[in-house]
Amino acid sequence: MEISSLFLIYTIIFLSSCFVLLSYHPYMKKRRKPQEQSAKLPPGSMGWPYVGETLQLYSQDPNRFFASKQKRYGEIFKTHILGCPCVMLASPEAARFVLVTHANLFKPTYPRSKEKLIGPSALFFHQGDYHYRLRKLVQASLSPETIRKLVPDIESTAISALHSWASPPNNDQVINVFHEMKKFSFNIGILAVFGHLDSNYRDQLKENYTIVDKGYNSFPNSIPGTAYSKALLARKRINEIISELISKWKEQRLIENDLLGHMLNYKDEKGQTLSDDQIADNIIGVLFAAQDTTASVLTWILKYLHDDQKLLEAVKTEQMAIYEANEQGKKPLTWTQTRNMPITYRVIQESLRMASIISFTFREAVEDVVYKGYLIPKGWKVMPLFRNIHHNPELFPAPHSFDPSRFEVPPKPHTFMPFGNGVHSCPGNELAKLNMLIFIHHLVTKFRWELVGNEKGIQYSPFPVPLHGLPARFWRN
Ligand code: HEM
Repeated sequence: MEISSLFLIYTIIFLSSCFVLLSYHPYMKKRRKPQEQSAKLPPGSMGWPYVGETLQLYSQDPNRFFASKQKRYGEIFKTHILGCPCVMLASPEAARFVLVTHANLFKPTYPRSKEKLIGPSALFFHQGDYHYRLRKLVQASLSPETIRKLVPDIESTAISALHSWASPPNNDQVINVFHEMKKFSFNIGILAVFGHLDSNYRDQLKENYTIVDKGYNSFPNSIPGTAYSKALLARKRINEIISELISKWKEQRLIENDLLGHMLNYKDEKGQTLSDDQIADNIIGVLFAAQDTTASVLTWILKYLHDDQKLLEAVKTEQMAIYEANEQGKKPLTWTQTRNMPITYRVIQESLRMASIISFTFREAVEDVVYKGYLIPKGWKVMPLFRNIHHNPELFPAPHSFDPSRFEVPPKPHTFMPFGNGVHSCPGNELAKLNMLIFIHHLVTKFRWELVGNEKGIQYSPFPVPLHGLPARFWRN
């Protein structure tokens, strides 16, 4: 038989088996409501069988992939990545539909391997009643009323970090800003979760957490010695440390206002308390959500301020006025002062927009959903693309230039979502902003810094950060 006829036969067998498989797929079998029957799938390409467009996504800067798709297909398009059919949404209305107004039709979705590492009871894997209750606890421990008491501790953590980076005379130590910001953010996370924690426990948690963090972005498998399996072991040890802390707390009947205190005091209407595992999963979840996010944004802020000396001067002038009012920094910063730093605050907002470190989020449709005439089939992933929205020139003119003054006028509602939107939006946003304001105050009033090397670029760790974590040198003024 000729090669071409063989090829034809194979193609027919392949296509017919695809057809048979598809006809068994729940998406093809299910009877649809009339509105769903007339709806069509969004435009877009599903790529190659099995791999879909995964290679296109990961062989370049993912944001280029999203931007080129949006240019070609518009604000809603389908694709297929990491084995999942997806609908991507690049308009504020569509993001609001998924995250706020129709949030009940979309559930959070994470790979099983990641869920295992953080802990399946962490709030961001859930929706409904359990999520609602836990979220209330987390929100209470991170509310402005609670975190205002943390100002002195955040200040001393920021000052001691900066002092440790600043080179003594004749010593040219180069700091990996992102790595150091991670340490700073971790310490603040510990403060929010445990209050003043014995340094021995803090070091044990840090050591094991670092191993979990390394494993989180590695290939999941249970082969001994791999980063993922080491991470699972470290995660177990963290559970033991937290259980020990919980026993101590209970023994001493401590009533604290931190997250651990809120979770230990919790009882539902039937008198049911949270289990140690539920508490541990949520502690790890919060530490996880707090660390890399805050560290990445702070790293970008240092870069943006360094690259715009005029802006840096304006921030310095604002902060020096506070420093002078506090008798050259002899008096501590007050909560009220942190609420009155308009220029610095706009720098933070613009950094959040420009870097859009959480470029998108994932949900999964729990039933067939029709949005603007397009069908989102049950089980498909849905991805609101925050970065595309933040970089849309119709919403943020000249989106690629760093211009904090654009925030002198508040952005249109639901167009600026660095902390997400709706039921899963970030409960730590006030704490994150407070950390950044306090850090910047001490940085610009007492220190100066220079970037090392002039390589430009972005690395994904997994959030976007300047290349090599932004190597820099620091000096005390
Ligand atoms: C600049 C820093 C931060 C950024 C940009 C950020 C961003 C976000 C975003 C976009 C979400 C929503 C994700 C989604 O809808 O799927 C989120 C959720 C969350 N964030 Fe943050 N976050 C930051 C800092 C923090 C901090 C400091 C904490 C805690 C101390 C925290 C705790 C959480 C938690 C627990 C959730 C899950 C909420 C839920 O599922 O109900 N985040 N964050």
